[in-house]
Order: sequence, then structure tokens, then C-alpha cells
Amino acid sequence: MTDIAITARAMAYMRSLDVDVSHDIFAKHFVTDEAKVLGDAWLATYPGLSRHGALRCRYMEDTAGRYIANGAVQMINMAAGLNTFPYRHSAATGLTHYAEFDLPNMITYKQAAVRQLTQQGILQPPPVKVDYVPTDLSTDITASFEQLAWDWSQPTVVMMEGISYYIPIDALKQVMQTLARFLAKGSPILFDYFRPKDTETALYKTLFKTITPRGELLHTFFTHDTVVELFDPIKVLSDRLMPDIEKDYCKDHKTIDFASYLLAERG
Ligand SMILES: C[S@@+](CC[C@H](N)C(=O)[O-])C[C@H]1O[C@@H](n2cnc3c(N)ncnc32)[C@H](O)[C@@H]1O
Repeated sequence: MTDIAITARAMAYMRSLDVDVSHDIFAKHFVTDEAKVLGDAWLATYPGLSRHGALRCRYMEDTAGRYIANGAVQMINMAAGLNTFPYRHSAATGLTHYAEFDLPNMITYKQAAVRQLTQQGILQPPPVKVDYVPTDLSTDITASFEQLAWDWSQPTVVMMEGISYYIPIDALKQVMQTLARFLAKGSPILFDYFRPKDTETALYKTLFKTITPRGELLHTFFTHDTVVELFDPIKVLSDRLMPDIEKDYCKDHKTIDFASYLLAERG
């Protein structure tokens, strides 16, 4: 397994630590000792990060769930990593199609891990088939959409959790153009991004120091205005900070203003 999986495992570790918030009951099965060491280094800088990571996932999945309840029948989880949405979220029953895009090595690893967890009886077959599509988001992703051959006149949920900063800006612009071309009116995109001011925080410095030597370079940052430009003609409906999202789910407050969480919709 290449180093690429380690940040996905560390995020699974965050979700497993705050499972009451994340509701990701399977995250613990993807955590390794190496991922714990990495995650613990992050937590030493920012103890609220497990809740932050848990909320990032919960907020995006619940928002996806609301769109599915209102008629979206297809969903693409881009850079899905070790997310197990269709295996545990009640909204998955409303989907006719679900796909995960990720780098080929992650797809190979994930398929094997899911097979093993299923054989062990930990995962049950999900209500919707999972289409695994090896895709490098730094390249033209048109072929991945064409390969799915779904009905693109139907609303499709797109989740892009924990990925934008790893993709060079020109490639991310191309991803958005592809989304604008394929997605039907009413299709939502869940997206998080780092802002230039986040790079001044102790958390960012720790992430930079621990992630970039493993090959996941942090390329891309946006202000609210430049992210709205990136999405155009897709409309940004909301762009929220974690302490605000936290109020929807928790009575106490542990998160800091770090990164931004955006919901956009194809008009
Ligand atoms: C931090 S993890 C996030 C995983 C998951 N979305 C989550 O929030 O737990 C980053 C994911 O992006 C994937 N990734 C990194 N670069 C990529 C690229 N160029 N194209 C597609 N996926 C990529 C990694 O394989 C990994 O699964």
C-alpha cells in the first residue's frame, strides 16, 4: 500500500474517535497503528480535530441524504477514500446508482478491504451497487463519467470530501467543467477547501509537515470569492465554517475556524 492511503486511514481514525458524531461505525476497521501515530500528531496540535473530521463527514452525508430524500437518485463520491456511506447511511436505499472515484491503488485496496469485511460479516451488502472507478482527479475525468453510462438527466449528488487541496488548480477547474457538463439541474456538490489564512495556523503547519513528505502535496487554496468563481456556472448555496456546523449537531464546542464547507447546486 502506498503512502496515499495513510491520510484516508487517519481521517477514518478521526471518525472512529468521535463515532457518536460521525455515525461511521465502520471507520475503526480501517485504522492501523501508523494511522494512529499520524492522527495523534494532528490531535496534539488540535484536540478538536476528531470532532472536526467527524462533523465534516456527517454534515456532507446528511446534506447528501436530504437531496436523495428529495429525488436525487445517483451519487458519486470523489476521492472516497475509506468512506462507507452506502453500507451504513439510511439514505443509500434511495439511490439507483452509487460510484466511488479514487486513485487506482486506493480502489484496489478498498475493494479488497470491503470484500474481507463482508466475508467477516462486518459489512452487509449495501442497498445499492458500488461502482468503483479508478480516476485521477488531476487529469481529464470525462472518461470516468462516460464509463458509468448513468442517466445524466437525473439529479446526481457529488461529494468531494477532503480532496480539493491535493489537486492542482487547473485540474480542479477542469473537474468543475466536467461536472457542469454532466450534472442535471438540482444536482448538489459537497466540497471543502482550505483558505490562504488557514495556512498560517498551527494545524496547517502540522498537516504540511506530516502529509507532504508522504507525497500528498497541498496545492490549492481559495477565498470565498475565488471558490465561487471556480464553481461558476454552478451556484454556491452556502459556505459554512465548522464551529457553525457544530452547533447543528453538538451542545458543546470543540472545533475551530479551519477550512470551509461548501454546498453548491447545478442550476
Ligand atoms: C484525505 S483522504 C479523504 C478520503 C475521504 N474522502 C475522507 O474524507 O475520509 C484523500 C483521498 O483522496 C484520494 N486522492 C488523492 N489524490 C487523488 C487524485 N489525484 N485523484 C483521485 N483521488 C485522489 C486519496 O487516495 C484518498 O482516498
